[in-house]
Amino acid sequence: MSNRKILVTSALPYANGPIHLGHMLEYLQTDMWVRFQKQRGHVCHYVCADDTHGTPIMLKADSLGITPEELIAQVGKEHLADFTAFGVAFDNYHSTHSEENKYFSSLIYTRNREAGHISSRTITQAYDPVKEMFLPDRFIKGECPKCGAADQYGDGCEVCGANYASSELKNAVSAISGEKPIDKESVHYFFNLADFTEMLSDWTTAGHLQPEVRNKLAEWLDGGLQQWDISRDAPYFGFEIPDAPNKYFYVWLDAPIGYLASFKNLCDKKGLDFDEFWAKDSKTELYHFIGKDIIYFHALFFPAMLQGADFRTPSAIFAHGFLTVNGEKMSKSRGTFITARTYLDHLNPEYLRYYFAAKLSAGVDDLDLNFDDFSQRVNSDLVGKVVNIASRCSGFIAKRFNNRLSAEFAEPELWAEFMATNEIIAEFYENREFAKAMREIMALADKANRYIDEKKPWLIAKEEGKEAELQAVCTVGLNLFRVLAAYLKPVVPTLSYSAEVFLNSEVHGWIDELEPLLDHQLNDFIPLMTRVEPDKIAAIIEASKENLEKTVAPVVKEKQFAPIADTIDITDFGKLDLRIAKILKAEAVEGADKLLHLTVDIGDETRSIFAGIKSAYSPEQLEGRLTLVVANLAPRKMRFGLSEGMVLAAGDGNGIYLLSPDAGAVAGMRVK
Ligand code: MSP
Ligand code: ZN
Repeated sequence: MSNRKILVTSALPYANGPIHLGHMLEYLQTDMWVRFQKQRGHVCHYVCADDTHGTPIMLKADSLGITPEELIAQVGKEHLADFTAFGVAFDNYHSTHSEENKYFSSLIYTRNREAGHISSRTITQAYDPVKEMFLPDRFIKGECPKCGAADQYGDGCEVCGANYASSELKNAVSAISGEKPIDKESVHYFFNLADFTEMLSDWTTAGHLQPEVRNKLAEWLDGGLQQWDISRDAPYFGFEIPDAPNKYFYVWLDAPIGYLASFKNLCDKKGLDFDEFWAKDSKTELYHFIGKDIIYFHALFFPAMLQGADFRTPSAIFAHGFLTVNGEKMSKSRGTFITARTYLDHLNPEYLRYYFAAKLSAGVDDLDLNFDDFSQRVNSDLVGKVVNIASRCSGFIAKRFNNRLSAEFAEPELWAEFMATNEIIAEFYENREFAKAMREIMALADKANRYIDEKKPWLIAKEEGKEAELQAVCTVGLNLFRVLAAYLKPVVPTLSYSAEVFLNSEVHGWIDELEPLLDHQLNDFIPLMTRVEPDKIAAIIEASKENLEKTVAPVVKEKQFAPIADTIDITDFGKLDLRIAKILKAEAVEGADKLLHLTVDIGDETRSIFAGIKSAYSPEQLEGRLTLVVANLAPRKMRFGLSEGMVLAAGDGNGIYLLSPDAGAVAGMRVK
C-alpha cells in the first residue's frame, strides 16, 4: 500500500445558526472517510472552519446587541463542541475571519486582477435609506408580481414559484427597517468567470466530479458563464477589497479560500508544508465534501479562482444529497428540525454515525432519517449482531477462564474468510459506498453469530470435561468480534475503542495483517452499547418543538406594519364576497415550503385553496376549524394546482394569524 498524502475539507458552516442533523450528514461522512484513510496508514489532514462573513451574520449580531466578532466567537465554540461530541475529529477548525484568510483572499483576488480576470462597473441596487445599506434580495419583501401573494422575498415567490428581480416586487419594503427601498448606484467588482470557460469544460469532465454533478455542470456551461459579482458595499462584515475602500469581498469569495486558510493555520501549528498541498504542481490529493446546494461555487467559481491565481485545483469534489426527517424536509413545527445539541442531549452519537453509514452511497440522493428505521437498524445491527457476539462469549470467558483466551484458534477458515473481505470493505469505504461496506460487515457479523448458534456454548458449558471446547468457541467468537470492531472503527470509533479496552488490545492500521489474540488476557467486560430507547426519540422531537418556541420569540423584534393602503369606497368594498369557511382538510404540498393545501366548505360549495401558512400551522391544527375566505377571488393557477379563493390571515412578516369568527358562526355565512 503506497502512502498517500490527502487533504480533506467539509463545507464551512455558517456562523449564524446552530449545527443541525442535516449538517451532520456531511461532517459525519467526511469524518468516517478521513478516519478510514488514517486507518489505512495514509497521511490525511481534515480541516474546516466557521463561515463567518456576510449580511445575515452582521444583522443577527445587530439584533442581539453584540458585535459580529462576539457572535462568531460564541457560535464557533458551539459548533466545534457539537462536532467534537459527535466524534468529528478535525485536524484543524478555524474561522474565515482570520489573518490567514484575509491574506489568501487578497492574494487570490490580486493575482486574478493582475491576470485581467476582474472588472468593475456601476450597478443600481435597492438601498434601505433608514438602515443606510444596500439590500440583498432576500432582505426585500413585497407582493409577488405574478400571483400577488403577500410577504414574498426578492429571491423568488414561494407561493407560485415565480422567479423575478427584486425590483419587480409590488409594494416592496426593506425586511430590516420596513422602509420602502430606493434605487442607488454603486461600483461593483466582478470575476470574469467566462475567461475560464475552456478550462472549466475540461476540468469538469476530467474525473473530478460525480457523473450526476458533471451533467449538471454541462448544462450550466452550455448556458454560458456570467460575470460573478464579488463585491459588497459597506456596511458589510467581511474583508475590505485591496485598493477599493469601503468595498468588501462577498462572503462566497472568501469562504472557500477558508479551506486554504485553515490548512495554513494547521501548517503553522504543526510545521507542515503548505505548498506541498496547494502549489500548482502539487502531487498530493485534495478533496472537498459538500452538499448538492453549493456545487456551483465549488465546481465553477473555486477551481477558476484557484487557476487564475496559480494554485492547484481540487482532485475531486464529493457532493451529497440532503437529509430529510421522517420523509420530509426538516420542519420546525413538526419537531424534525433537530439540532446536533438536542440529539446529543438524548441519544448516543454513534447510533447516528452508524445509521448514516448504513444508508450512504457515493451519489447525490437525499437521505431520509426515519426514526423507526433508525431504531430498528441500530438495535438489530450494532446491538443485536455485533455487540451481541461479545455478550454471548464474554461471560463464559470471565467466569470459567478468568478472562483468558485459548492458546489456539479453532477455526482458521473462518478467520481467513474474515480477513479476505478486507479489500472489498476497504474499496467500498474508499469509494464512499458506506452502505455497501456496512452490508459486508454485517454479513460477517451474521456469520459469527451463526457460528455461535451452531456451537451453542451455553450447552457446552453444562457438559463436563468440555472446558477446552467452551474456551475455544468463545475465543473464536471474541476474535471475530474484534475484527468487526476494527472494520467499524471509522464509523463507530467509541464503540471500537471500548472493544479494544475490553479485549486489552488495540488494532493499529488496517485489518489485512491482523492475527487472532491467543493465550491472551482480557479486561473485564464493559457494556458496549445499549438499544435505542423509543422514549428518547420522542423526547428529541418534543425538545425540538420547544427549541422553536425559544428561538422564535426574540426574533420578533420591532413590528413593522405596512402603511394604510389607498382609500376605497363602499362599492369597492361591496365587491368583496367574504365567507365563513370550514376547513375540511389540510395537507402539506410537496415541493412547497410555505404552502398548505386546504379543502374548505363555504356553504353550498367546497373549494380547493392553497395558503401560505405552513410555517405557522400544522395540518392537524386546522382541520375542522372555521376561518374567513374571499369567495369571489378569481381562481389562480399555481404551480401546484388551481387555488379557488383565499383564506384571510393577519401578519407582520414574523407570525401568521388566521382569522376566525366568534362561536356560533357556521360555514357559508357572508361577512359584511
Ligand atoms: N457556508 C456555506 C458553505 C461554504 S463552503 C466554502 C454553507 N453553509 S451551511 O451551514 O448552510 O451548510 C454547510 C454544509 O452543510 C453544506 O455543504 C450544506 O450543503 C450542508 N447541509 C446543510 N443542510 C443540509 C441538509 N439538510 N442535508 C444535508 N446537508 C446539508 O452552505
Ligand atoms: Zn407568486
